[in-house]
Amino acid sequence: MGRAVDTAAVATRRRALGQRIGRGTVLIPAAHQRDLERDYVQDNDLRQNNTFFYFTQLETQDAWLLMTVRGPDSVETVLFLPPRNPAQERWTGLRLGPDSVAVRLSGIATVLPTDSLERRAQRALRTTPGPVYVPLDVTTREEQRVLDLTFGARDVRNLRPIADSLRLVKDADEIARLRKAVDISVAGHIAAMQAARPGMFEYELEAALEAGFRRHGADRVGYPSIVGSGPNSTTLHYDVSRRQTQDGDLVVIDAAAEWGQYTADVTRTFPVNGRFTPRQKAIYDLVLATQQAAFDSIKVGVTSLRDLNRISREYMRAHSGTLCGPQTCDVFYIHGLGHGIGMDVHDVGDYSLPLRPGMVFTLEPGIYLTDENLGVRIEDDVLITATGAEWLSAGAPRTTADIERVMRGGRRP
Ligand code: GLY
Ligand code: MN
Ligand code: MN
Repeated sequence: MGRAVDTAAVATRRRALGQRIGRGTVLIPAAHQRDLERDYVQDNDLRQNNTFFYFTQLETQDAWLLMTVRGPDSVETVLFLPPRNPAQERWTGLRLGPDSVAVRLSGIATVLPTDSLERRAQRALRTTPGPVYVPLDVTTREEQRVLDLTFGARDVRNLRPIADSLRLVKDADEIARLRKAVDISVAGHIAAMQAARPGMFEYELEAALEAGFRRHGADRVGYPSIVGSGPNSTTLHYDVSRRQTQDGDLVVIDAAAEWGQYTADVTRTFPVNGRFTPRQKAIYDLVLATQQAAFDSIKVGVTSLRDLNRISREYMRAHSGTLCGPQTCDVFYIHGLGHGIGMDVHDVGDYSLPLRPGMVFTLEPGIYLTDENLGVRIEDDVLITATGAEWLSAGAPRTTADIERVMRGGRRP
């Protein structure tokens, strides 16, 4: 039925939403079980939708959350859950039902069966002026029917822009989840580096990587693992993992674990044989220095992620020398510097805003030289703090010397 809920954290989020809305009614449905035959079930049958999770931390399906906001500091919350079905629970395990267990776990005092949703929502509408906010993206046909029946001609607005803006700055609970997801991801990357041998197939490296994730408690992968060797190191989101590596290849692994609904996003590039060639090292060191230059330019309250992107390109252009032939290497840096992470790997939020404590984002410059089958990307996760910035994923070796040392460690008998 899920982990313990940080009831204070989610109550604070619901109050913050209330303050943003001022007056109105909010209704959020939970996710539904995926269908083994119809859907692509990669891990398990339910992943909560992010908006519902943000305000409840509950991993339970077919639920609804109703919040009645009568003033900035008055949010009345009701959780609706389907009644339990003992016969079905023989297949699914215990489910959360509308009873005292749910009250205790959720920290929400009023938990009712879903068949009382329409009545309660109508009552909320009669007593509460203001618009109705629903996350329009997660409404199924059945949910749409409930919304139409319940709210009719009321002023219905999309909750997502407001909920998403609240997610930009992470609270303590979210940061703890992200730290855990990052730590698990780091362990997986190290496992893959240490397993690497020339001649291995990419899928074998992927197996070592994801075994590392699961061994350390990952709930699932945060996104399909990218394990690209040789020519595939230059394809940004290569996720087929079928090629056999060859001595001399670089391998780009862009992969991360999800834990407690939050995902890391980490990339490491290493030589499959454990030794960078001088050419590989030269390109690698320029990417690394570019990443460091972006990090060193973080000024809390001043620079935005968009500014850092520009700074990183300028740095790479100015320090290319003749490394990339007649062109400067930024020509081969064909994507943005980074993005927020959180419940989505490319998390919601406005990247043009000045960085604030609690923001968590990636720094991931790269150079991709297709003519040489040589791709390098280095991606780390960074937390903005009151005094500056913290590398969250520093546990994964980042310099060529540290990578070679860790890989040698894996080769000891
Ligand atoms: N893993 C996808 C990305 O780095 O954006
Ligand atoms: Mn990324
Ligand atoms: Mn990535």
